[in-house]
Amino acid sequence: MNKGDSETDFIPALRFHWLTSLYDPILRWTMREAAFKNRLIKQIQVDPGQRVLDLGCGTGTLTLLTKQTYPKSEVAGLDIDPKVLQIAEKKAAKMGLEIVFDQGISFDLPYPDQSLDRVVTSLMFHHLTLENKLRTMKEIFRVLKPLGELHIADWGKAQNWLMRIAYLSIQILDGFMTTADNVNGLLPQLMTKAGFARSKETDRFMTVYGTLSLYKAKKITM
Ligand SMILES: C[S@@+](CC[C@H](N)C(=O)[O-])C[C@H]1O[C@@H](n2cnc3c(N)ncnc32)[C@H](O)[C@@H]1O
Repeated sequence: MNKGDSETDFIPALRFHWLTSLYDPILRWTMREAAFKNRLIKQIQVDPGQRVLDLGCGTGTLTLLTKQTYPKSEVAGLDIDPKVLQIAEKKAAKMGLEIVFDQGISFDLPYPDQSLDRVVTSLMFHHLTLENKLRTMKEIFRVLKPLGELHIADWGKAQNWLMRIAYLSIQILDGFMTTADNVNGLLPQLMTKAGFARSKETDRFMTVYGTLSLYKAKKITM
């Protein structure tokens, strides 16, 4: 990976590489991880044989949950960071789950056009600039089959002032530039701009770091 190349620079799971090993316990104990990830898994509704990608899979918690819930589906996880992928691979091997983990970048996916049924992604979009958010959504649109679906869990519009203040913790950690689009409620608009239909917020969770929203959108082509 080229250091200093803006195309391949990324914000690690917990902002600094040395914090990556703490990612799983921090998420589990501080932010209702099981509640929102189980809700997202229920929302994606995968049929046997369908292909699902967990984009920005990090340490693979959601990827594993997808395969456990829909064992007859083909599940892959992709992340830019080799360090988190090593953790994800170890977790999958320990649980005996057959999952492919790929290293790659969200706006240049190593998959053919119209090859996936679902793309699910959790807590990745707030790491991307506005330009890369849109590029990523267009890339997801490309790899999804007609009637394929995009499902997102990420920081959303604050429900109240308390949630807005709580979200400052994420903005200080991950930077104001990439995180502002989320709290400004831009994700559904960006999905629509990328070509998706029926883009909408489906649920919200109050967490100690602010409002976490779930979204979904469908690829409808003539
Ligand atoms: C906060 S973590 C979320 C991990 C996991 N999805 C979860 O919900 O626990 C964000 C992840 O997105 C990855 N990431 C950031 N930018 C990316 C990009 N452009 N392409 C692929 N992965 C990216 C990071 O490496 C990190 O693992």
